[in-house]
Amino acid sequence: MYVVRPAAAAAAAFLGLTLTVLGAAAATASTAPGPAAPATGARGAGVLGPVVYAHRGASAYAPENTLEAVDRAMWLGFEWVENDVQRTRDGELVVIHDDTLTRTTDVEQVFPDRKPWRVKDFTAEEISRLDAGAWFGDGRYAGARVPTLREYMERVGHNRQKLLLEIKKPELYPGIERQTLDLLEDMGWLDARHVEGRLVVQSFSADSVRIVHGLRPDLVTAFLGTPTVAELPRYAEFTDRINPWHTTISADWVAAVHGLLGAHGKAMEVDTWIVDDAATARKVQAMGVDGIITNAPDVVRGAVGGY
Ligand code: G3P
Ligand code: CA
Repeated sequence: MYVVRPAAAAAAAFLGLTLTVLGAAAATASTAPGPAAPATGARGAGVLGPVVYAHRGASAYAPENTLEAVDRAMWLGFEWVENDVQRTRDGELVVIHDDTLTRTTDVEQVFPDRKPWRVKDFTAEEISRLDAGAWFGDGRYAGARVPTLREYMERVGHNRQKLLLEIKKPELYPGIERQTLDLLEDMGWLDARHVEGRLVVQSFSADSVRIVHGLRPDLVTAFLGTPTVAELPRYAEFTDRINPWHTTISADWVAAVHGLLGAHGKAMEVDTWIVDDAATARKVQAMGVDGIITNAPDVVRGAVGGY
């Protein structure tokens, strides 16, 4: 079902301060049964620029997916951070991007006989001993750790930030969707305040997104990828957003996504990744994206505004 894109109209302050909705124009539906509200979440692409997400934290400036990267995003003035969630051998959820520990930790030195050093083959206690910061930059982050998801949520909550949570490689971790939601619930992240504007769950796995939507239909979800325009209506049944790699999109494709009502009956949205330079940020802004996921959020904000 296609609708006319509503005018975005939200203004935001960040980090727990006031978020003021200025207004929103109702959309006129061509084939939809009635007007469409703005898409889910605190969006303001038409007023303040796109929402800017600090990818793996402010990962251009601090080691990715660490608490230090979360803090760095906060200090730069960004409320939204993105992360990647996987699971250890003994069932602890941890925040790390790769399914092996080699690129971002000193695991090969600490556990030389544990090749291929997969996250799922190590206990949480073993992973807690690894250095996840020494590899980065000039070494000033040596001693940073791979956080558990619980530690991560505590920090994001303490910082009054918001989370774009990615369930990474769910095919390796049966049941990770329910386990993640259980932890979020336990930590108070599934109450109305969080669900309405502080949390989005995404995955490259459509099955995983569908499972999350089935378990918690109130949650905002996103599918990572670029379905064809013809495929989009199937995704709209279980998700609110389509989050594509920036090289794969066009203004027409973004408009096609915006023209659909998502799982919550609101116009679907597009948050694109990974945009780290000003020219590309301006290009995707001109295509009409709602959000930009970036390792260098300050660069994107400098180019296109956003918050
Ligand atoms: O949030 C989008 C982005 O994280 C997807 O790619 O590989 O960095 O998880 P990746
Ligand atoms: Ca990710």
